[in-house]
Amino acid sequence: MESRLGFCVSFLLLIFSLLSLQAPAEDVFVGVNIGTDLSVMPHPTQVVALLKAQQIRHVRLYDADGGMLMALANTGIQVMVAVPNEQLLGIGQSNSTAANWVNHNVIAHYPATNITAISVGSEVLTELPNAAKILVNAMKYIHSALVASNLDHQIKVSTPLSSSIILDSFPPSQAFFNASLDSVIVPLLGFLQSTNSFLMFNVYPYYDYMQSDGFILLDYALLKPLPSNKEAVDSNTLLRYTNVFDALVDAAYFAMASLNFTNIPIVVSETGWPSKGGANEPDATLDNANTYNSNLIRHVLNKTGTPKHPGVAVSTYIYELYNEDMKPGPISEKNWGLFDANGKPIYILRLTGSGLVLANDTMNPTYCAAKEGADPKMLQAALDWACGPGRVDCSALLQGQPCYEPDNVMAHATYAFNAYYHQMGKASGSCDFNGVAAVTTSNPSHGSCSFSESVGRNGTMANITAPSMNSTKSDSSASAFGYNMLSCAVMMFGALLWGSIWL
Ligand SMILES: *[C@@H]1O[C@H](CO)[C@@H](O)[C@H](O)[C@H]1NC(C)=O
Ligand SMILES: *[C@@H]1O[C@H](CO)[C@@H](O)[C@H](O)[C@H]1NC(C)=O
Ligand SMILES: *[C@@H]1O[C@H](CO)[C@@H](O)[C@H](O)[C@H]1NC(C)=O
Ligand SMILES: *[C@@H]1O[C@H](CO)[C@@H](O)[C@H](O)[C@H]1NC(C)=O
Ligand SMILES: *[C@@H]1O[C@H](CO)[C@@H](O)[C@H](O)[C@H]1NC(C)=O
Ligand SMILES: *[C@@H]1O[C@H](CO)[C@@H](O)[C@H](O)[C@H]1NC(C)=O
Ligand SMILES: *[C@@H]1O[C@H](CO)[C@@H](O)[C@H](O)[C@H]1NC(C)=O
Ligand SMILES: *[C@@H]1O[C@H](CO)[C@@H](O)[C@H](O)[C@H]1NC(C)=O
Ligand SMILES: *[C@@H]1O[C@H](CO)[C@@H](O)[C@H](O)[C@H]1NC(C)=O
Repeated sequence: MESRLGFCVSFLLLIFSLLSLQAPAEDVFVGVNIGTDLSVMPHPTQVVALLKAQQIRHVRLYDADGGMLMALANTGIQVMVAVPNEQLLGIGQSNSTAANWVNHNVIAHYPATNITAISVGSEVLTELPNAAKILVNAMKYIHSALVASNLDHQIKVSTPLSSSIILDSFPPSQAFFNASLDSVIVPLLGFLQSTNSFLMFNVYPYYDYMQSDGFILLDYALLKPLPSNKEAVDSNTLLRYTNVFDALVDAAYFAMASLNFTNIPIVVSETGWPSKGGANEPDATLDNANTYNSNLIRHVLNKTGTPKHPGVAVSTYIYELYNEDMKPGPISEKNWGLFDANGKPIYILRLTGSGLVLANDTMNPTYCAAKEGADPKMLQAALDWACGPGRVDCSALLQGQPCYEPDNVMAHATYAFNAYYHQMGKASGSCDFNGVAAVTTSNPSHGSCSFSESVGRNGTMANITAPSMNSTKSDSSASAFGYNMLSCAVMMFGALLWGSIWL
């Protein structure tokens, strides 16, 4: 990435004032990138369990791994798949290769796996310049294959660009694409516009800060509130910038506008901060990584937009889910993750009060248990609900199964409540059951009946996918059941039978 020496010269340092913030909008999201360069890559079911436990609803893959796509099926998680750079040349040169790729990697999994975008290559213009000529062709071929399956409205095609192809990005109003790439950029933007797609943009304030020789303040890179005299103002537009992230995104809007493209939305396909670095990377620290990602998430979800487009959401994928210990290069390269390979958070994001659990310590186990002294009838009703409409797999409670003993409603309800609580990613309100349940830190496991404690950890992961159980009973009819384990067992047996007939 180029250093931005003109940076400070162009600044006016003015009084910082808070932007007026808007309520979170439905359409803005923060997702995560899932790199797989780990010496022990967790199994796809463990990855998905971690995503669920952390309530991560949007992921970007760097390929279209079949195991991952299968594990992501029926989870509600929205998935961006990728044509890896190694496969780009083939696809850009052959319409039928592209169609085969789409059939095999997208159509075969959709709609069970909610694939919402295909990223064609990654930073191709800077990483694989000799493929630049065929990049737009590859995107068009992929898109044609989606059109042929009538999926082009549900699945968008784009390609992540490095912010380094935008030159002179401060002040943002003067930013432009490296002109030697215009022969690719212009048709690329034309494609994005005509297909109602979006620009995928990789934004790394960490590198801009590192390479600025001190011109960029750390706090400005970390989205921290700045002292009143440190705000950056674009002297052409008088727009005021409080952080590097917004300035880079606006630079991309302005660079597109300079080519007369003014209505292409931006999604930040990668951003983050490393939590550890070598001796010459003193700002790759746990605290800075936590500060950047926590501030970023709040900023994005507030739908503040940028100074150029206030209120326009810039959905963002954090780089990245796991530390990739096999990544070559400096120590920081291996330390961009929110979690280690066991699903343990590297740091706990400071998001308390935001309603998010991203990077919360789900390794620190909590359980959901029936309250002592709760009314057995209410417990039974709640148990029936959990094993029925709540879609908890209660087969372990059947006679002869590990959690049948002790055969009382308190123990059985605790098992079902706890399973439901974990299935819901420990969401607030998911351990209440009309007041008969409460969160506890003591593990109710007993004998061979092992309760799910942490997800994403090797070996101890609970199978939290919904079982074949189903129930047509409503909440209210469930409460009429009374204290009768037999009825629950009969119901489960019926459901299992039903499942075995149809599966
Ligand atoms: C995928 O997610 C989008 C956005 O939430 C939603 O509108 C769509 O119905 C989902 N598609 C499938 C097949 O689940
Ligand atoms: C590529 O194939 C699709 C069908 O998959 C077709 O509609 C389209 O016209 C083809 N494009 C070219 C450039 O051959
Ligand atoms: C512009 O792009 C060309 C071709 O990729 C590259 O050689 C050149 O270094 C870039 N210019 C700048 C200033 O980054
Ligand atoms: C953008 O549009 C303006 C006005 O229509 C025109 O003068 C200019 O040449 C266009 N620029 C490019 C890069 O197409
Ligand atoms: C986000 O908005 C909420 C409520 O409007 C506010 O309390 C919070 O400080 C905002 N956070 C950021 C980082 O702007
Ligand atoms: C995340 O963890 C913090 C501290 O452990 C806790 O206070 C907070 O309630 C948790 N957030 C959620 C949504 O569980
Ligand atoms: C995870 O489990 C698998 C098989 O059970 C084992 O081969 C692998 O070494 C385990 N990984 C870790 C990190 O414990
Ligand atoms: C989880 O449950 C599903 C369906 O009940 C089953 O197909 C799958 O094999 C289970 N996975 C594991 C890891 O036990
Ligand atoms: C499960 O039950 C719900 C209603 O409770 C129903 O909508 C759904 O179709 C059922 N699913 C199966 C597989 O029977």
